[in-house]
Amino acid sequence: MTNYIIAPSILSADFTQLASQIAACESAGADWIHVDVMDGHFVPNMTVGPLIVEACRRATKLPLDVHLMIEKPERYLEAFAEAGASGLTVHVETCPHIHRTLEHIRSLGCRAGVTLNPGTPVVMIDPVLHLADLVLVLTVNPGFGGQAFLSETIGKITEIRRRLDGIGSEAYLEVDGGIASNTLPIVKNAGANAFVSGSAVFKYPRGIQAGIWALREAIG
Ligand code: DX5
Ligand code: ZN
Repeated sequence: MTNYIIAPSILSADFTQLASQIAACESAGADWIHVDVMDGHFVPNMTVGPLIVEACRRATKLPLDVHLMIEKPERYLEAFAEAGASGLTVHVETCPHIHRTLEHIRSLGCRAGVTLNPGTPVVMIDPVLHLADLVLVLTVNPGFGGQAFLSETIGKITEIRRRLDGIGSEAYLEVDGGIASNTLPIVKNAGANAFVSGSAVFKYPRGIQAGIWALREAIG
């Protein structure tokens, strides 16, 4: 039976209440906490660094799924691992030596994740799929929460699922961007098994717990 993962993205959290909002996610049954790291270069927004990852580490026992939207991510892998990241996901667009970078992440004891933007073709990650513990398909252009799901990405999810199954990989196939109870069944049917959601959790009208339950119900 597939183990489906719900990973709330704290990008949409109220940072004055970060610990209690993460605790609400944990008690509502979230599986991982997703942390979006942005540098204002690779993506047009700036967010958090190892300091906040370390604070999240003290706020929850859940695995911390850290998404690095930064240039030259290899410079910061140790710092995020020491801060308590459980998984580190790097963009293929930022890694000329992606093979080495994924091996480096594994050597730090973290789950090695590779991801690609909506405009990047699947062939870019093909040579390193066997080194990935997680493949993340961006279903919006990264940088901001609350954007609309891009349906053009569905074919990429299907394709990556086929390739992972083809090599016998048990890597998670994660999706991120515009995931809510209406879009989740579409990406699940395409083969995704880990779902990042920011606004549909933290800005859900009836609260964080109800938001997570709605996603769990959409998984079925
Ligand atoms: C996009 C980030 C996402 C974002 C998702 O740049 O990588 O993790 O927080 O937010 P929603 O779920 O609101 O699209
Ligand atoms: Zn993300």
